[in-house]
Amino acid sequence: MDELLRVESVTKFYGRKKVLDKVSFTVNRGEIFGLLGPNGAGKTTLMKILAEGISYRGMVFLSGESIEKRRFQIGYCPQDEMIYRDLSAYDNLRFYAQLLRVDRKKAKELMREFDIPNKKVEQLSGGMRKKLSVAISLLGNPEILILDEPTVGLDVETRREVWHIIKKVKSEGKSVLLSTHYMEEAETLCDRVAIINDGKIIDIGTVDELKKKSKIKSAIEIRGIFNMIPEGFVQEGSSLVFYTNTPKEDIKKVVDIVGKCGEIKEVILREPTLEDVFLQLTGRRLEG
Ligand SMILES: Nc1ncnc2c1ncn2[C@@H]1O[C@H](COP(=O)(O)OP(=O)(O)O)[C@@H](O)[C@H]1O
Ligand SMILES: [Mg+2]
Repeated sequence: MDELLRVESVTKFYGRKKVLDKVSFTVNRGEIFGLLGPNGAGKTTLMKILAEGISYRGMVFLSGESIEKRRFQIGYCPQDEMIYRDLSAYDNLRFYAQLLRVDRKKAKELMREFDIPNKKVEQLSGGMRKKLSVAISLLGNPEILILDEPTVGLDVETRREVWHIIKKVKSEGKSVLLSTHYMEEAETLCDRVAIINDGKIIDIGTVDELKKKSKIKSAIEIRGIFNMIPEGFVQEGSSLVFYTNTPKEDIKKVVDIVGKCGEIKEVILREPTLEDVFLQLTGRRLEG
């Protein structure tokens, strides 16, 4: 496996608060790597260390060299857009092309490739603005694209369009490091995922590996209206969920217990999802 990025024992304090705690992982060439974690986990801080060069302890290498020498190989798309609203899409791209000393032909190419209409940014939809931001981060022909929560706040259809672009970037042999708190995004896009919570990496692997590592085999999900959460159960939306390795033996007991807590509408026996694995590992839900 051809390693591109190596993050080694990165620790970050804000004042006295430790927001990253010995974070280590690698990203291979041509790989989409996901940082999956809830708000406040430290995802943005890590990306700022990589892309903006804010201070940290530990070591980071890109193409085998210290990242400080290699930052030009990174394309970064922060969560907050850095595009000028009163300029047109093309003028934004041209402005950044000039900064990066890239031929403005590249700006034209990206407009065409991503099908971005040449309107004033304030007239573009949220999805189009996101596409424009990604296009800007690709201007310098980076080896790795860093995307901070690329689809947050986008509707389902636009989210899929952005996913399509990310896959295209990968198909050109580039690496992608993205952060997300959407399970589905991690499942559809990422070759490997690091689960991060409270500044610590809890586990790394493919989505399937992470699911298989889970100690639990089944989830009994009970949908309904409940007025309390019985011990040993977790709440997921309007459902109560019980994890078990012996579902057949447990199902009657589970229904009995939950029946006393409200009204049962549906009982489902299913495999654990990545969300379940996360919940089990951290005791927290991803999307709150
Ligand atoms: N500039 C800052 N100064 C102080 N604390 C910060 C700063 N930026 C982020 N934090 C804190 O660091 C933690 C991690 O934040 P962040 O990296 O934004 O997490 P995420 O992107 O996973 O939501 C949070 O507790 C947040 O409040
Ligand atoms: Mg963030």
